[in-house]
Amino acid sequence: MELEVIPAILVKDRAELLRRIAAVSPHVKTVHIDVMDDKFVPNKTIGPESFSDLPKDVEYEFHWMVENPQDYIVKVPGPHIHLVHIETVKDWPAVDEAIKKSGGKLGIAYNPSTPNPHVLIAIERAQRVLAMTVVPGFSGQKYMQEVEEKIRELRLLRPGLDIEVDGGIGPDTAKSAAKAGANKLAASSAIFKADDKKKAINDILAKAGGD
Ligand code: DX5
Ligand code: ZN
Repeated sequence: MELEVIPAILVKDRAELLRRIAAVSPHVKTVHIDVMDDKFVPNKTIGPESFSDLPKDVEYEFHWMVENPQDYIVKVPGPHIHLVHIETVKDWPAVDEAIKKSGGKLGIAYNPSTPNPHVLIAIERAQRVLAMTVVPGFSGQKYMQEVEEKIRELRLLRPGLDIEVDGGIGPDTAKSAAKAGANKLAASSAIFKADDKKKAINDILAKAGGD
């Protein structure tokens, strides 16, 4: 499957969001925006009030680390991917309805400790699955290699599914995740801490695609 590197942005103000989008948009197709509510995870970021009129030269996926994600999704209309944590969903029809209203598409995110069967129950509604390779909440954490077991199993079950990893991704861990079956690679520190963003993105891509 084609590999894609997706810069992940975890910020507390819109000006910084726009700076980061501008820094990577010439080099990628998609940007990943982390949203946290200080309830589902112990950290808080900007929210839907900051997502109007985003630059149109990239596509967006929103990673909703929030309780009641359906209440947020309806506030961000457009052809975006909404990565909803399976651990937060109490009412799938409400999520389906919010996705429909927003004009976006659903992706399912799940924590390192959440097993595959929980995802498989809901997988028919989703365009992609995001396997967290850290406990969500913060950038800069260490990649949890044990998650690859779930990725391998999911890849065997769904050869054509977009499987994304998020957390601790750099050239080496991207390679390991891609070997396990991931084809979408979200990364924050490895890209935004680098002076040369284009090179950082290409390094991840090259290593993940190498033998
Ligand atoms: C973690 C977020 C990730 C994070 C990635 O809760 O969902 O997207 O920003 O950061 P790095 O790549 O630094 O682990
Ligand atoms: Zn994320």
